[in-house]
Amino acid sequence: MTENKPVILTADDKSVELAIHSGTIGPSCVDISKLYKETGHFTYDPGFMSTASCRSAITYIDGDAGVLMYRGYPIEQLAKHSNFLEVSYLLMNGELPSANQYSTFEHEVTHHTMMHEAFRTFLYGFRHDAHPMAMMTGMLGSLAAFYHGDLDLEDPEQRRLAAIRLLAKVPTIAAACHRYSIGWPIRYPRNNIEYVDRFLHMMFEVPSEPLMLSPVAAKALDLLFILHADHEQNASTSTVRLVGSTGANPYACVAAGVAALWGPAHGGANEAVLQMLNEIGRPENVGSAIDKAKDKNSGFRLMGFGHRVYKNFDPRAKIIREMCHQVLAELGVNDPLLEVAMRLEEAALKDEYFIARKLYPNVDFYSGIIYKALNIPAEMFTVMFAIARTAGWVSHWLEQQNDPENKIGRPRQLYTGAAARDYTPIAGR
Ligand code: ACO
Repeated sequence: MTENKPVILTADDKSVELAIHSGTIGPSCVDISKLYKETGHFTYDPGFMSTASCRSAITYIDGDAGVLMYRGYPIEQLAKHSNFLEVSYLLMNGELPSANQYSTFEHEVTHHTMMHEAFRTFLYGFRHDAHPMAMMTGMLGSLAAFYHGDLDLEDPEQRRLAAIRLLAKVPTIAAACHRYSIGWPIRYPRNNIEYVDRFLHMMFEVPSEPLMLSPVAAKALDLLFILHADHEQNASTSTVRLVGSTGANPYACVAAGVAALWGPAHGGANEAVLQMLNEIGRPENVGSAIDKAKDKNSGFRLMGFGHRVYKNFDPRAKIIREMCHQVLAELGVNDPLLEVAMRLEEAALKDEYFIARKLYPNVDFYSGIIYKALNIPAEMFTVMFAIARTAGWVSHWLEQQNDPENKIGRPRQLYTGAAARDYTPIAGR
C-alpha cells in the first residue's frame, strides 16, 4: 500500500488536505473521511459511482479491460484448473490450499451439510408456490436461531465455523426449497460425493431410482459456481458488509445478501434473461426487441446486458458462452432460445446505441440457458447464484471482522424535504 501526495480541496474559504491511498493495482482513492469535519460538506455519490467503501484484498476487477481476479489469480485460470471448493478456500483464506488443507476443508464442509430437522417444519410453513428466493431469505436468516450458542464474533474459530456452515448448508437449503415447491420429499446430503454432485443429487434424485447424471452437468455447474463466487463490492456483498458493520451475526448478514441479490438489476437478471428470451421467442423478433430496448419510453432493457463495472466484455460471459455450447452439444439439447440469444448478442454488439454505452453481455446472459439445459427451473436461477456467491459473502464478512477500520456503515444524505415549519392542528388544514 503506497501513500501519494495529498490533494488539496478548497470549499468556500476552507482548504483541506485529503490523503490519496493506492492499492496494489487499480485506481487510487481520495480519503474524504475528514471532509465533513474540516469543511462542513458531505460528498454526494448516488449508487456509489466513485466511492470505495472499504479496503479489500479478495477480488480485483478492471472493468475497462475486462479483467477479474480472485486473490490475484485470473478467473480464466481458476475456471480452467480449479474447482468451486478450492476457489472458496482461496477466497476465504487468501491462498490456494495444499493437498492436506484442501482435504481437511472438503471434509469439514461435507460434514456440515445437514440441516437441523426442525428446519423441515419451518420450510413446510411456506405456501407451496412460494418463490425459492423468498424461502432462502427466511431460511438463512433462521440459521442464527439454530447456532445461537456459537455466535461469539470475537472468537475467530466461531467466525470460521459459521462461514463453513453457511458454505455447507446453503446448497442443502436451496435444494430443499426446490423440492418442497414441487412436492418431492427432501433428499439428505450424501457425503460420498463432491460438493456440486451432491447438490445435483439433492435436487434431482428420487427415492425410487438412482440418478443418472451426465458428467457435463456437474462440470458446468462447478464452472458457473466458480464464476459467480465473488465480485468485490457488488450490491449484495456491500449489503452483507453493511449489515456486518453493525455486529449482526453472519447468518443475518448472508440472508440480507440473498435479499439484495434477488433484484432484477443484480442476481435476478438470470431469471429475467430467460423470460426475455422466451418473450422474444424467435430469431426474427430480435430486431424489434433491440429497438424496444433503445426506446427509453418502453421501460424495457435487454436483460443480461450492461454492467456497472464492466465497460467491456464481462470475462465471465466469455467463459460461460463456450461452456453453454458444450453443455447443449453433450446433452443433445437443441434449444431455440440459444439461437435467439446468439442473434440478440450479435445484433446488440453491432448496434451504435449499445456500442456507445459500452453495453456488453454480462455473466447472466448465458447462465440461464445452461441452467435450463440442466433442468433447473427458472425460479431457481437466482438461488444458484446465491449458492455460489455465499463463498464471496462469507469471505468478505470474515475480512471485515479483522478490519481495524471497520465502522458501522452509515451514509449521509442531501436533504430535499421541507424546511422547519410549524404543526397545524387537523381542524385548520
Ligand atoms: N438495455 C438497454 N439500455 C441499457 C441497458 C440495457 N440492459 N443497460 C444500461 N442501458 C443504458 C441506460 O438506459 C443508460 O442510457 P443513457 O445513458 O442514454 O441514459 C446507459 O445505458 C447507462 O445505464 P445505467 O443504468 O446508468 O448503468 P448502471 O451502471 O447504473 O446499470 C445495470 C448497470 C443495472 C447492470 C444495467 O446495465 C441494467 O439494468 N442491465 C440489465 C440487467 C442486468 O443484466 N443485470 C445484471 C447485472 S450483472 C450481475 O448482477 C451479476
